Order: sequence, then C-alpha cells, then structure tokens
Amino acid sequence: MSESAAEKIQDIETSEGTFTLRLVRDDLGEIYPGMIRYTVEVLRGTETVYTYAINTYESGRLGTLFDTRKAAEIVFARLAHDVTSRPHLYTRSRVFTRPLPGTGTADVVILQGSPRRFGNSAKIASWCDDEAAQSGLTSRVFYLQEMDIRPCIGCYVCYDQGYCPVEDDMPPIIRALEAASVIVVCTPVYTGTVPAALKAAMDRCQWLHAREKILGKEVRARGLLVAVAGRRGSEPFVCVTRVVGMFMENLGIRPADPVLIGDLDRARDVETIGGAEDGVRAALSALLAPRNER
Ligand SMILES: Cc1cc2nc3c(=O)[nH]c(=O)nc-3n(C[C@H](O)[C@H](O)[C@H](O)COP(=O)(O)O)c2cc1C
Repeated sequence: MSESAAEKIQDIETSEGTFTLRLVRDDLGEIYPGMIRYTVEVLRGTETVYTYAINTYESGRLGTLFDTRKAAEIVFARLAHDVTSRPHLYTRSRVFTRPLPGTGTADVVILQGSPRRFGNSAKIASWCDDEAAQSGLTSRVFYLQEMDIRPCIGCYVCYDQGYCPVEDDMPPIIRALEAASVIVVCTPVYTGTVPAALKAAMDRCQWLHAREKILGKEVRARGLLVAVAGRRGSEPFVCVTRVVGMFMENLGIRPADPVLIGDLDRARDVETIGGAEDGVRAALSALLAPRNER
C-alpha cells in the first residue's frame, strides 16, 4: 500500500534511558497523486511513546512557503531537544489516536437524509429497518439531520493516523459503516441533490476512505440508494444517483440498482404510491440474501 522508509534516526541517552527519534517517509501516492506523509516517532526502548505526522496535502508542496518536509524536520529537532531536556515527560505513551466506539454495530446501516422525521424517506427507512429484522438481521437508522455532523474541513489529517480531528457525532457512524454488510441511503432530492446533512456525512466519510487506505479497514458492504422526489420522471434523480454513487464507489461499497420514487409533490405520501413499499423491500431483501461472494 505504502512504501515506508526511515530517513533520519537519532539516539538520545537520558537519565530515563535511551530514546530513539525516527523521521519516517511514507509514499501515499497510490491514494492521492504526490501524497507523501512524514511521521516523527519517539521510541523509548522499543515502545513508541509519541508520534507526529503531517502530509503534503495538508500543507504546501516542496519548495513553497510551507514545506512539509521542513515542518517535519522542525518537529524532529524540537522533539530531540525536548526529550533531552525533559525525558521524564516521555516515559509514558502519548500516542494520539481516536478510537471509534466499540459498540453500536449492525448488519444493515440506514442513513436517513431527510430532515422530516415522519416524511417519505423516514417511512422508507422504517420499511428497510423492518425488512432487516424479518431477515433476522440487526439494523440501525441514523437520522442525520438530528445529529451534530460538521462539514469536512479538507485538512487531510485523516491520512496521517486514520482519525478525523473534527469533534462531533461522526465516530459511531464511521464505526457502523465499517462493520455493516449492507448500507442503505434513504434521501429526498433537495435542489437537485441530497440535503445538506447527508452531504456533510458523506464528505466526512473521507475519514473512512483514509482508514481503508492507511489502516486496511476494508468496507465490504453492498449499497442501496432509495431516493424520493417531488417531480415526475428520471430528471430529478440525475445528480442524486451520481453523488451517492460516488460516495459508495469511494468507499468500495458495491451498489445495487437504485430505487427512485418521484411524483411526490402530487402524491404527497409514499405509502399511497402503489408498489413503492414492495419495491423497496424487494430491493433490500435481494441484498440481504446470503451470497457466496465476499
Ligand atoms: C428544500 C427542498 C428542495 C427540493 N428540491 C427538489 C428538487 O430539486 N426536485 C424535486 O423533484 N423535488 C424537490 N423537493 C421535493 C422533495 O424531494 C419531496 O417533497 C420529497 O417527497 C420529500 O421527502 P421527505 O418526506 O423524505 O423529506 C424539494 C423539497 C425541499 C423541501
């Protein structure tokens, strides 16, 4: 996946024992063109007690005002000085990670994108929830609009150590998506695309992409989009299918044919559209059936 090379190593003898500083360069070009990550590690004996990482997508390219390699070297020099003068601060591990919550996983994860708690997408989410239960599977619906989900800030820090520095309600979603075997996105069409909370959640799944790429946490789920729109025909769904399709493709989720239900400005209630419930249930049920494929 990445080529790792220690470019600089320094041993430091202190009253607390021998420390080793390593400046490691990882070529992450297979993830993004030209992405290089530098990690400065402090080891006490063989135990890693501190790490700092920075990549070229966070900062400028080589030779620009903010040079990633120079930044890593400055951190290396400062850490060398700090370990020498205050070794007692490095006797216990201060490695920064952000573990995902260990609980709350489900076979089927449903991302409900509509702000309307009792609207059409919420009704479709409840059909999917019920269909999973009837198949003897666990499921979990995330009502995204009711959660604190901040927009992605494009810092690319998730490619350093596999976690996102933005503090909000995303960790349980990431954990659930990582563990799910089927992921359903239920959404209305809003101004040609998906509502803001769903878009924010999908963008923040870049974190999941980073976890897959740098930690090897593979998402193996099948995916289903169920979208509703006020207008008739296929035109309202052009962008939604593309956006959700890209989200799934980015994470390696294998999509089934989407279920698209229009004309709701006239019908108002998806329950009144003949065959809608059966169509949604059948599409999901096909994904829940045991398969030989991975
Ligand atoms: C802000 C907003 C934007 C919308 N934009 C579109 C649109 O671009 N095309 C369309 O066909 N319907 C549009 N609609 C209609 C919704 O897709 C439709 O009412 C849908 O049934 C709502 O689903 P829900 O009950 O799950 O929220 C829009 C509705 C709202 C509130």
